[in-house]
Amino acid sequence: MANSETKFLLQEKDMPTAWYNIQADLPQPLPPVLHPGTKQPIGPADLAPLFPMELIKQEVSTERYIDIPEEVQAIYKLWRPSPLYRATRLEKLLDTPAKIFYKYEGVSPAGSHKPNTSVPQAYYNKQEGVKRLTTETGAGQWGTALAMACNFFGLECLVYMVKISYEQKPYRRSLMQVYGAQVLASPTDTTHFGRQVLAEHPDSPGSLGIAISEAVEDAAQRGDTKYALGSVLNHVLMHQTIIGQEAKKQMEMAGEYPDIVIACTGGGSNFAGLTFPFIKDKIEGKDVRVIAVEPAACPSLTKGVYAYDFGDTGQLTPLVKMHTLGHDFVPEGIHAGGLRYHGMAPLVSHLYELGMMEARAYPQNPVFEAAVTFTRTQGLLPAPEPSHAIKAAMDEAIRCRESGEAKTILFNLCGHGHFDLSAYDRYLSGNLQDFELPQAEVDSALSRLPAMA
Ligand SMILES: Cc1ncc(COP(=O)(O)O)c(C=O)c1O
Repeated sequence: MANSETKFLLQEKDMPTAWYNIQADLPQPLPPVLHPGTKQPIGPADLAPLFPMELIKQEVSTERYIDIPEEVQAIYKLWRPSPLYRATRLEKLLDTPAKIFYKYEGVSPAGSHKPNTSVPQAYYNKQEGVKRLTTETGAGQWGTALAMACNFFGLECLVYMVKISYEQKPYRRSLMQVYGAQVLASPTDTTHFGRQVLAEHPDSPGSLGIAISEAVEDAAQRGDTKYALGSVLNHVLMHQTIIGQEAKKQMEMAGEYPDIVIACTGGGSNFAGLTFPFIKDKIEGKDVRVIAVEPAACPSLTKGVYAYDFGDTGQLTPLVKMHTLGHDFVPEGIHAGGLRYHGMAPLVSHLYELGMMEARAYPQNPVFEAAVTFTRTQGLLPAPEPSHAIKAAMDEAIRCRESGEAKTILFNLCGHGHFDLSAYDRYLSGNLQDFELPQAEVDSALSRLPAMA
């Protein structure tokens, strides 16, 4: 029975107690991760300098469900289960027969979905005796989430924050410092790779690929330190599946099942978190469309190639098969800093290749226009990243108006935009620039992909 309520809330006792691992259900297994020198599949020992063994095991596991440790569940309960809303006011404004639902992850203390993985990552590192974690951050949401988690587990935290975001969002830095983290603007002069970038490009705005290289280099040099990544890796995507599992229960409470599930994609984690439990149904025969939305300035799914590439600019990581714009591609300084990554999660790339999902790209002005419309109807101020999903959800709802179809649309509102007001200022004053990535630039970066036999 359809339910006309505005929000659908689960009790703490209804919170999922296991993460969903889509590797158990893939129609074809993921291509292996390769050693950049030998081009042979790597083993757990190759990753051990950077990650704790429990996370390495999760990375390669094909068990369908992996239990969430009780200490992690207890911290999740500070904000989980997160609410699911029906956007009735937006539906009315768009005059659409479609029903629009959104899962809201901005209720976490850090303001986004990122603590769903920072908390277990800090937990497993602590369990294995690690004292210090390094990481990168683009939008600042991931750095904030890791800073909070490290603080909860008594770990030191060093965040390499992409320089353009450091300048655009000074208060993200402050929040990380309140949690006790140290924050540096990347590229820095404290790592070998950072100095190399600065020597060639003194005014580099930075990128996630560069910041990852700095954080990896730092961690690899110290016995007490490991590295934490906020997206892309299989275990990170799996930790986020608590979002989609909750959303499924909440859609049931609403008496609905989505026809279309939408999320933005930077490295792919909030997208995976919402959609993988629905893609499980799709693999089992259910009819559901899944759409990933990326920025036109960094369109790894829609313009990149599916190839082996490095996860970072400095070529310190193993080679993963993914959609990529080339590891040395530095995207324009768009305000969706969390979407400025040259690659896409191997799991998301693989599902895209298998035809299990669609992808589209938008420039930033229409995205901000959608975000402002959303704020003026629903009241919540979204981060620029999920505003890409809002734009796609609105476009789908408008299509329903034109076709007269009453589809059910679900999207992930994976973070609030309270630290993004300078971007909104620029949009409102007409000073936001759109960047359409020239094909020649893509071709040039792709020509430097690692040679494969
Ligand atoms: C609010 C928000 N949404 C989305 C993203 C993109 O990352 P992912 O694709 O891993 O969800 C980020 C990354 O920093 C973010 O902060």
